[in-house]
Amino acid sequence: MQPSLDSFNSPNSEEYCSSWEEMLQNRQLIIASNHGPVTFHKDENGENQPQRSGGGGLVTALSGITQHVDACWIASALSEEDKAWQGGLVPIGEESGSIRVKFVISDDAAYDGYYKVIANPLLWFLQHSMWDIFRSPTIDRSTWQNWQNGYVAVNRLFAEAVTKQILVDQRPALVMIQDYHLYLAPYFIRRVLHPRAKYTLMHFIHIPWPGAEDWGFLPPRMRQGILEGLCAVDLLGFQTREDGLNFIRTCESHLPHAHVNFKQGRVWYRNHATFVRDFPISIDVKSLRRLAETEEVAEYHKSLLEQYGGNPLIVRIDRIEPSKNIVLGFQAFDELLELHPEHRGKVQFLALMVPSRMEVEEYQNYLNELMGAAGQVNAKYGDSAWEPIRVVVGENYPRAVAALQLYDVLLVNSIADGMNLVAKEGPVVNQQHGVLVLSERTGARQQLESGALVIPPLDISATANALHQALIMPTDERKEKAERLRNLIEGEDIVDWLCKQLETIVKLGL
Ligand code: G6P
Repeated sequence: MQPSLDSFNSPNSEEYCSSWEEMLQNRQLIIASNHGPVTFHKDENGENQPQRSGGGGLVTALSGITQHVDACWIASALSEEDKAWQGGLVPIGEESGSIRVKFVISDDAAYDGYYKVIANPLLWFLQHSMWDIFRSPTIDRSTWQNWQNGYVAVNRLFAEAVTKQILVDQRPALVMIQDYHLYLAPYFIRRVLHPRAKYTLMHFIHIPWPGAEDWGFLPPRMRQGILEGLCAVDLLGFQTREDGLNFIRTCESHLPHAHVNFKQGRVWYRNHATFVRDFPISIDVKSLRRLAETEEVAEYHKSLLEQYGGNPLIVRIDRIEPSKNIVLGFQAFDELLELHPEHRGKVQFLALMVPSRMEVEEYQNYLNELMGAAGQVNAKYGDSAWEPIRVVVGENYPRAVAALQLYDVLLVNSIADGMNLVAKEGPVVNQQHGVLVLSERTGARQQLESGALVIPPLDISATANALHQALIMPTDERKEKAERLRNLIEGEDIVDWLCKQLETIVKLGL
């Protein structure tokens, strides 16, 4: 039976949708994110070919679902070939399905304002507690132009594309919007569509949501726009419970006429309820294991063993990203070598650094800073036989997986991190009973703290001490912690992340 609008909106909709699979059969699924599942590039024959990009875990989680539902993914056009793509089905995943991909084309200046000025760095820095309040950010006329002609404009374009897609199909739509690039789109979608149109809006925020005080520094017009945008959503997902509570607190402090209910995780605004929940994201354990068993990973494994075998290995793998706190991590290693000379000449620190957002000035500067910090440690302690920190810049996932197999200590010391998936990938493939040193300000901490050494990320001494404890930890304890981490991660993988969101939609009757 095809449910009517009323049945979807009634609290008894479980009668119609006993499970999310059944619920999906009656819906069209629309995903909207800045980075799509693929970008198109010309191959050697000049043909436009899709290459998998961005949305990693999300694509994986969705490949299973495409068996139950028609899905359409709306994303920014990031290449000339994307702009030329007329829309259509693109295969995703190894075993299953294909997905309809449509691109939103913004002019270059609008995209730059939206991506390079407002989303990164303004919002990203705010949400990762990286504003240096008395120096940055500067919010001036140019910022406001980028807000209006960039962020607002691109969000409007996304809203138009989503709205158009909702209207082409008779079935109710389930719209899953992703992340901080698209905070305003839900408001524009709701404003355009008829109140009786059939759709449910979800939004998942992959990055931390800081407290109301931090949002207090954003000018009220931007802040209110963002909060109104998110309060147009039916189900708003965060990585952790604390992020969700912070959102409700932010509405309570900064959104006039909003009524909040912490117990029920709900914000009422303009006659509309937004339910706030946490859905910690994870990794695709099976496909990571499959990759870890490939020849390619084995080759890298062998070559890393040749270079570092026999010595204790500290590994970190991060995007070149200030919030990852790479410089302080190197300074902590410096302190470790200073206080514990027994590690000198032995322990190797391998930092695999993945270039990211290099078109944004703050990111370019950070690469120089981290290279300088590693250079200082190497100059202070290194010699012809031992380079204490080896920094390798480049994107090479099989090599990263090989390094994860080999670490004795994995360092994740982010200043703030929505989740941090390296902290989940490492323990799944590691073969050394390696110890995870984990920042208390990562989303991953909520699930993994019982198996990790948890550190406050700005405390260099505490980080140095945790590295030392990890290096000298007795085998039994390492083993016990490593197993605990593996079990925790295997128990909740990426598919659970998606299923829990869909189950919540069914449970709430949205
Ligand atoms: C990280 C964050 C995501 C974000 C993405 C954007 O992976 O965890 O929340 O969507 O960066 O990255 P991009 O390369 O598109 O700026």
